[in-house]
Amino acid sequence: MCGIIGVTGDTAALETIFDGLRRLEYRGYDSAGVALVDGGAIWRERAADGTHSVEDLAVAVAAAPRSATGIGHTRWATHGAPSVQNAHPHVDCTGRVALVHNGIIENHAELAAPLLARGHVLSSETDTEVLAHLLEEELARGAGLAEAMRSTLGQLRGAFSVVALTSEDPTLIVAARRAVPLLAALGEARGFVASDVSALLGRADRYFALDDDQVVEVRPGSLRVTTLAGDEVDPTVVGVDPSWDVVAAQKGGFDDFMSKEIHEQPRAIADTLLDRRANDGSIVLDELHLSPDELRAVDKVVVVACGSSFHAGMVAKYAIERWARLPTEVEIASELRYREPVLHERTLVVGVSQSGETLDTLEALREARRSGARTLVVSNVVHSTMAREADGIVYTRAGPEVSVASTKCHVAQIVALEVLALALAQWRGTMGPSALASTLDELHRLPAAVGEALGRAKEVEDVVDVLVGARDYFFLGRNLGYPVALEGALKLKEISYLRAEGYPAGELKHGPLALVEPGTVVVAVLDPLRDKMRSNVAEAAARGATVVVLTTDDDTDPPGDHVLRVPAVRDPVLAPVVEVVPLQLLAYGLARRLGNDVDRPRNLAKTVTVE
Ligand code: M6R
Repeated sequence: MCGIIGVTGDTAALETIFDGLRRLEYRGYDSAGVALVDGGAIWRERAADGTHSVEDLAVAVAAAPRSATGIGHTRWATHGAPSVQNAHPHVDCTGRVALVHNGIIENHAELAAPLLARGHVLSSETDTEVLAHLLEEELARGAGLAEAMRSTLGQLRGAFSVVALTSEDPTLIVAARRAVPLLAALGEARGFVASDVSALLGRADRYFALDDDQVVEVRPGSLRVTTLAGDEVDPTVVGVDPSWDVVAAQKGGFDDFMSKEIHEQPRAIADTLLDRRANDGSIVLDELHLSPDELRAVDKVVVVACGSSFHAGMVAKYAIERWARLPTEVEIASELRYREPVLHERTLVVGVSQSGETLDTLEALREARRSGARTLVVSNVVHSTMAREADGIVYTRAGPEVSVASTKCHVAQIVALEVLALALAQWRGTMGPSALASTLDELHRLPAAVGEALGRAKEVEDVVDVLVGARDYFFLGRNLGYPVALEGALKLKEISYLRAEGYPAGELKHGPLALVEPGTVVVAVLDPLRDKMRSNVAEAAARGATVVVLTTDDDTDPPGDHVLRVPAVRDPVLAPVVEVVPLQLLAYGLARRLGNDVDRPRNLAKTVTVE
């Protein structure tokens, strides 16, 4: 997936594009490029230097012409290596059209063959470039850019958002989307499109969402949206979450976004819990849009998600089963899509997604809706595609998360899912008012407990000192400690590039123990099955592993070579929110020692809008 931006009517178009690209880099940064309309021609520059592509590009455009219309792109490579040749914008044979694209054109090879036969020259290995040549043919037939876009999109299979401009019509940008996010926006006498709102903060004042297969023509101060058939439709106006301001999207004195976001966790949890309790003590979920009766009719919950959001979903299973007594399955979104899950109108499918745009989760939810299930989304992004499509929403209120490694959104997701579990328990009558009230009180104590865990960063740093140099990690946990172990391993592997496996500790002796030897590091999450975990720690220690245990302040005799402690939380279902903190700090500390870019790890991107 990639970040795209288009600007028209902006005397500082290049500056706006770069500002946007810097804020979109979380979507990919293998390469970057920009195209401007310059008189009767298109001027283009591209750079491909891994994590520094946008900054290299900023140097390379020093001689750019002044222009009020342009497009920019920051890429996460799918088709074709990350190189200048494959970087966007791509142009047609005549140099009259330039476009940027996010997503995958699945039938690009099919489309390329006749184009080549008709004499077009394709100069990249991307799935994108065919679009420029298809637009070229439509323009040659006399179509305007919007009309050309409509007939070209009709030929495409796949998921995409695309923005194009032409030297023939210098104030126009044309954009379209299918299953991939794209917003249009207007400011005074200016028009914009971008992959997400963060790219336009401080510049646009009205935002519009596009539905699948809609085409938007943006001119300075105005826009027009049409369907593929050419029928004009009213654009959907979207509000912007006021907490998503420019300051929230900056590092604010921290070395990187990841450490800023780790330290924002107490606030993210507190904000996610705001206004969830009515005066009579009952739980309210304002944005839910599903009535208590509809939720009482549910007889099974299926949570679908990817990555860290999946780990939050694993914790939710314990909460929903324990408190609401509802059978709950948790499934990796990309797996649910391609089997034949038993879902029906009494199933509640809960999609968990920070971005609300992850394609695997989005499509799993669509599949669920086709099966007649009710869908609910836990998302951090207001008006994200999932939030717009789902029957119900519970927002996490973590503010923008920029670092690829999810931290504050992960803990906010757990908290939001736990509030949902309590609401289900309330409506199903499986928990009485006093049990509900005391669990909610306990949830409200989490920001302080997380703050205390953050205050122990020095203890984690001491362990980092000892572990630097180790290459193989096992993260072990049981029961509610297992998702914590998985999340610790995921954090470590994604930013440190070290081999880190999360494992249910009881499974160690069924195979993986063969890999444990002197030099292996075992990180053991002791709670909630502390005694059982002690045996598993002993098994690893006996094979020479270096053992780091994660336990609570009330543990008087923890095993292991090194001990990380967190404040104890009364209800074990809430503990993962606190326990994950030292593991985030451990991953962060090790990655920094290794000299890695923690915000932009290699090969990854923040929002994954490809399958
Ligand atoms: O936006 P989402 O929550 O749907 O994203 C899901 C995963 O891509 C995400 O959690 C990923 O695993 C993170 N990089 C983990 O830190």
